Amino acid sequence: MSEFLHLIDLNDYNVSWWNTLLRLAHEIRTSPEEYSKACEGKIMGTLFYEPSTRTQMSFQTAMLRLGGTIIGFDNPATSSVAKGENLKDTTKIVSGYADIMVMRHPVEGSVKAAALTAECPVINAGDGGHLHPTQTLTDLFTLIEEKGRLEGLTIGCCGDLKNGRTVHSLIKAMSCYKDNKFILVSTEELAVPAYIKDMLSAAGVEYKEARSLDDVIGELDVLYMTRIQQERFASEEEYKKQKGAYILDKAKMKKAKSDMTVLHPLPRVDEIAIEVDDDERAKYFEQAKYGMYIRMALILTVLKNNGKPPKLIKGREHKNVECSNPACITHRELYLPHYFEGNSDILTCEYCDKRTLI
Ligand code: CP
Repeated sequence: MSEFLHLIDLNDYNVSWWNTLLRLAHEIRTSPEEYSKACEGKIMGTLFYEPSTRTQMSFQTAMLRLGGTIIGFDNPATSSVAKGENLKDTTKIVSGYADIMVMRHPVEGSVKAAALTAECPVINAGDGGHLHPTQTLTDLFTLIEEKGRLEGLTIGCCGDLKNGRTVHSLIKAMSCYKDNKFILVSTEELAVPAYIKDMLSAAGVEYKEARSLDDVIGELDVLYMTRIQQERFASEEEYKKQKGAYILDKAKMKKAKSDMTVLHPLPRVDEIAIEVDDDERAKYFEQAKYGMYIRMALILTVLKNNGKPPKLIKGREHKNVECSNPACITHRELYLPHYFEGNSDILTCEYCDKRTLI
């Protein structure tokens, strides 16, 4: 199995590695000209099986600003995926052309599946409703640049906390810094998954769930708004029941602290009223730009192989066990070995992190 510095899950690396990356991003932001030839002669492959504006273009811009070049697709229908090529073959081929591969895919665990056989480092640019680690790096960089610290913050996450991979990754990351608390605001149907709550409890991190944003907004140092993710719902009807559940507007902002920071991974639909954009606490457009600097730092770090390559598979193969998550890549790409962690009657899928009872 490959020993590249893949980034599949931010938690495969320690906080000290993240902090080094954040410091490098700060240096790049301060003196971009010093890094303009740092990746000369290097090629990045961007495979976007799912739409994207920020992640795709900030990665591409990051590589171009480092002096490298890019190949790839932003619509699988224009590649041989449309002819039925499987994930393994497409990613194996592109990873043989490129020095670093960035991939977004709608199916959970797909990027790790690609990394298993890739011939270059692979970066997860979002795998279904699972993880989006470079968004989290973007969020960490935004917070350190805007608030000056990553500790002692009360962070409100609001909206689609069930399907919002950005929220899952952010909670996992910020729970590694001292004295952070979480207030998780969602409807019952869109509550954060059990494994995230278990992780918070196991780490001794304080959190509470709330149904009303009005009731808790005054407690927050950071409000992380998220979109209700229509594409993850089983039907239009189910989506409509949740649409518009939370809308941040001027009236709500009046109840917030004067230095509360509003973040949103974007794109937004209607969950932040346009009138909030002019509020100096709204930092979501700056956040998208910070994403370019942290991705420059990440590309440089990965290409220099700066860090200990994480083990992609920590458990073992269970040939006769199926992952309980219907959205897991193992149900789409049937050749994949069924890797799980754990030895008792509960196994955790190595691709999508969902638990399966055996
Ligand atoms: N935040 C984010 O992932 O945006 P895109 O879907 O536009 O990449």
